[in-house]
Amino acid sequence: MKAVVYTRYGSPDVLRFTDVEKPAPKDNEVLVKVQAVSLNRSDWEALRGKPLYARIGGPLRPRHHILGSDIAGRVEAAGRATTRFQPGDEVFADILSYLGGFAQYVCVPESALAPMPAGMSYEEAAALPQAGAIALQGIRDTGQVEAGQRVLINGAGGGSGMYAVQLAKLGGAEVTGVDNAEKLAFIRSLGADHVIDYARADFTRNGRGYDLILDLAAHRSVLAYRRSLLPGGRYLYVGGSAATLLQVLLIGPLLGRAEGKKLRLLAVRLGAQRLAPLVALCQAGKIATVIDRRYRLGEVPEALRYLGEGHAKGKLVASVE
Ligand SMILES: NC(=O)c1ccc[n+]([C@@H]2O[C@H](COP(=O)([O-])OP(=O)(O)OC[C@H]3O[C@@H](n4cnc5c(N)ncnc54)[C@H](OP(=O)(O)O)[C@@H]3O)[C@@H](O)[C@H]2O)c1
Repeated sequence: MKAVVYTRYGSPDVLRFTDVEKPAPKDNEVLVKVQAVSLNRSDWEALRGKPLYARIGGPLRPRHHILGSDIAGRVEAAGRATTRFQPGDEVFADILSYLGGFAQYVCVPESALAPMPAGMSYEEAAALPQAGAIALQGIRDTGQVEAGQRVLINGAGGGSGMYAVQLAKLGGAEVTGVDNAEKLAFIRSLGADHVIDYARADFTRNGRGYDLILDLAAHRSVLAYRRSLLPGGRYLYVGGSAATLLQVLLIGPLLGRAEGKKLRLLAVRLGAQRLAPLVALCQAGKIATVIDRRYRLGEVPEALRYLGEGHAKGKLVASVE
């Protein structure tokens, strides 16, 4: 089968579109013929080997040689111990823990799969898993956004931000989106009330406070984030620098205690089955999936370059022939 492969960390130049052996499912796995795979910043980070957490399991060389974590496709074969899916079933999955989506076929534990949502294209379904899980848990389950609250989403113009802005607006919040200048009009089009260009202004120094900061691109100190929270407010680290992550883990829990502020890591629980509430909102037309650009599997290196250079608004999806 064809796949996009890499064996060392680097730029998209280290990726090769080449022939590899088609995988065979273990007893608990299902072989999926991939129809569409979406790109995430986590693919970019794992390609570059930066931040440091992207090297967990592979400090010098990547552990997985085929990236790609959000897939939609059709079951081709099912392992002996599987019970829920049969050849021909249409499925989608979040396979961040296993990877391998930038390929024509991938083996996935049955537990990671969910049936394709009715009325959704493969591309839309592939766009949902990782970004949707981050947004759903960051804004609703853990973020617990309520009407009238002030919510700031740092990195609002990317995949997770696209869903997070819309979910926060649906919840009745006043939403500020932060990202690079090229993405601000897009963030407004999602419903954000205010936008900030991160290259021109530091939101932690604008004198405003927020009930929730969902940080998809954390690079500041925990002290700066604490300053930006209203009393009782919540800061959630999703991705960004390893230095900020360490601070959040080590001193975050202590730092805000006096004012009832909470600073912590959002450890996203994966799994397409958890996305049911977001799927329902998409099907009802209340949340839109915006696909900035569409590619073919062999163009994944080009797509990753576009994402890494800071142009992608919403999601990028590759279709697999
Ligand atoms: N915590 C967990 O359990 C978990 C699970 C899965 C994924 N993640 C992480 O989630 C993160 C976000 O994912 P995503 O797919 O939403 O990424 P994304 O689509 O790339 O969106 C991130 C956005 O942040 C922007 N940005 C970069 N630097 C910024 C800055 N200094 N200030 C404000 N915005 C900035 C990016 O713009 P530019 O284009 O200008 O860079 C981009 O628009 C990744 O780091 C990923 O590793 C975490």
